[in-house]
Amino acid sequence: MTTSSAPGKIILFGEHAVVYGRPALAVPVTQVQATATVSATSRTGIWIEAPDIGLASELSRLVPDHPLAAVINRVFSVLPSPPSPSRSTPAGLPKGEGCTITITSTIPVASGLGSGAAVSVAIIRALSAFLGQPLPDERVSDLAYEVEKLHHGTPSGIDNTVVTYAKPVYFVKTFPSPSRRGIGGEVETFRVGAPFTIVIGDTGLSASTKESVSDVRTLWEADQPRWEKVFNEVGDIVQKARRAIETGNIPALGPLMDENHKLLQEMTVSCAELDQLVETARRSGALGVKLSGGGRGGNMIALVRPDKAEPVAVALMSAGAKRTLITTVKQTSEVA
Ligand code: MEV
Repeated sequence: MTTSSAPGKIILFGEHAVVYGRPALAVPVTQVQATATVSATSRTGIWIEAPDIGLASELSRLVPDHPLAAVINRVFSVLPSPPSPSRSTPAGLPKGEGCTITITSTIPVASGLGSGAAVSVAIIRALSAFLGQPLPDERVSDLAYEVEKLHHGTPSGIDNTVVTYAKPVYFVKTFPSPSRRGIGGEVETFRVGAPFTIVIGDTGLSASTKESVSDVRTLWEADQPRWEKVFNEVGDIVQKARRAIETGNIPALGPLMDENHKLLQEMTVSCAELDQLVETARRSGALGVKLSGGGRGGNMIALVRPDKAEPVAVALMSAGAKRTLITTVKQTSEVA
């Protein structure tokens, strides 16, 4: 039996502009996790059990672009073993044997916390390890990115990257090149000079990242000079934020978050529910607030002094948040 878990994530700065080659900063949220367990079974075939979504099925009964089938089929397709002649015994499994893949997750779906990417990463790691061919991080992230593309159209790759490496990342999308086949991006970790506290507030509205990304593309196509300028402004905010985080200048982050939120509003990816939570957090003493992720629902994040975390979380719940999480961003030992 093999088990693997992957964390949720928040984008601190730079969502949407990152799709157009500007940098973004994201950090893992380890309080929420997706977990995949693969165990041998005497039944033939690949059995998928995802009790959270009421799914129990053999792999071949799912449509090929089902999110879970897409991940599992990709793992089998990249393993070096020759393809199996039997549909119910994919490459890598001894003939006639099967396995059960059980998936659970505490990451809210369609909320900007990277639930899809985390489920993919957990499955890729657990299944490749179960088959005796554990994949390296870069390959795990690339495969998760391929699945993100199926569901999100033109993702930047930041979600699969931060979830795979489970470290703070400074990410710049790589544009298609023969060597990297357009996969992934430039990834750097960054130092967290002083810990800081973030309250995450969930509007409870499911939001389609694909739609918000596609709507921003429509705006960009209609007036590229205007949106290139806006994306440049976001890029500048990200650079300033990275410097502030690295030097432990946490108070400087608040105004940068507010500015980033304004630009996201201009991109039309905020919504009344997000703006209401953003305003509530500001009135309750947050140092800076913005939406996080695709927008149009999902989550907002508020930078707070540690003693203000609880009061801000309580105020968000009274203003309609469906749940809140308090997380501390700090230096991880692996950060270069
Ligand atoms: C989604 O978490 C972040 C976006 O920038 C989309 C992407 O980067 O793929 C909105």
